[in-house]
Amino acid sequence: MATPRHFLTISDFSSEELNYIIERAIQLKAMHRKGEIYEPLKNRVLGMIFEKSSTRTRVSFESAMLQFGGGAIFLSPRDTQLGRGEPVEDTAKVLSQMVDCVMIRTFSQEMIETFAENATVPVINALSDMYHPCQILADIQTYVERRGSIEGKKIAWIGDGNNMCHSYITAAKLFGFKLHVACPPDYCPNEALVVAAGDSIEVCHDPAQAATDADIVTTDVWASMGQEEEQKKRAQAFEPYQVNSLLMSLAKSDAMFMHCLPAHREEEVSASVIDGEQSVVWEQAGNRLHSQKALLEFLLVGKQ
Ligand code: CP
Ligand code: NVA
Repeated sequence: MATPRHFLTISDFSSEELNYIIERAIQLKAMHRKGEIYEPLKNRVLGMIFEKSSTRTRVSFESAMLQFGGGAIFLSPRDTQLGRGEPVEDTAKVLSQMVDCVMIRTFSQEMIETFAENATVPVINALSDMYHPCQILADIQTYVERRGSIEGKKIAWIGDGNNMCHSYITAAKLFGFKLHVACPPDYCPNEALVVAAGDSIEVCHDPAQAATDADIVTTDVWASMGQEEEQKKRAQAFEPYQVNSLLMSLAKSDAMFMHCLPAHREEEVSASVIDGEQSVVWEQAGNRLHSQKALLEFLLVGKQ
């Protein structure tokens, strides 16, 4: 059996493949809006392993499979043998016989990689401590659908050098945008990723510098899932990094504000910005459905 393709990080796909998925997501969204029935995954099943909470990711993947004529099974460590210590390798071999694709949200990227090495079906990273590649697809779709190509555009990442930031860093070269990261000195992104991204990214500690003339300003929570006990300490370090109206006024006049959600109003973003005119966060969340449909179709059926 041929080794399946996986989507564990943005760089698992070429620039051409990523751009195809964005265009296809836009098409699939239009088809869905017209009420067209399209069931390329009839009788196919997605296994969904969630070791962390989720609203958007779970519902978008599950709806995508249902709308495509297939089904999805939610697997929580509380109810599976994975939670009682059955090896990841064994679980991957077993699930591969029963489902057509597996989506995993967990803590360690290594767990997802080990699962993929032992799986004979495609594996999708639905968020790890290291990356959140599915969210990037929806974000890029949101920009491209409204404004056209993202090549050469300036994206400002304000805040934590976290999983979302890492996926933006990985995406910069492949999509051809310039990423300006502004983070507190103790919360910088992974050094190796920054080096690999070369001149497609710049890291600084000044939100104003990063936001100036940006086409997109984006941020994320100050404490990610699993870092709840650091919340207080982080709130202090991140205070100067709030995306508010003053910061947005430095970006291009038509700049979009993005946030993967869930958001904490008056922490990483002011209510005036997230609920304001430049915010595209609801559209971004909605696009998770369409971009993941394009991803599932690409992995399970191929290009259309
Ligand atoms: N943005 C995102 O992945 O949201 P959920 O945690 O709700 O899935
Ligand atoms: N950085 C956040 C993203 C949530 C979608 C987290 O990992 O909790």
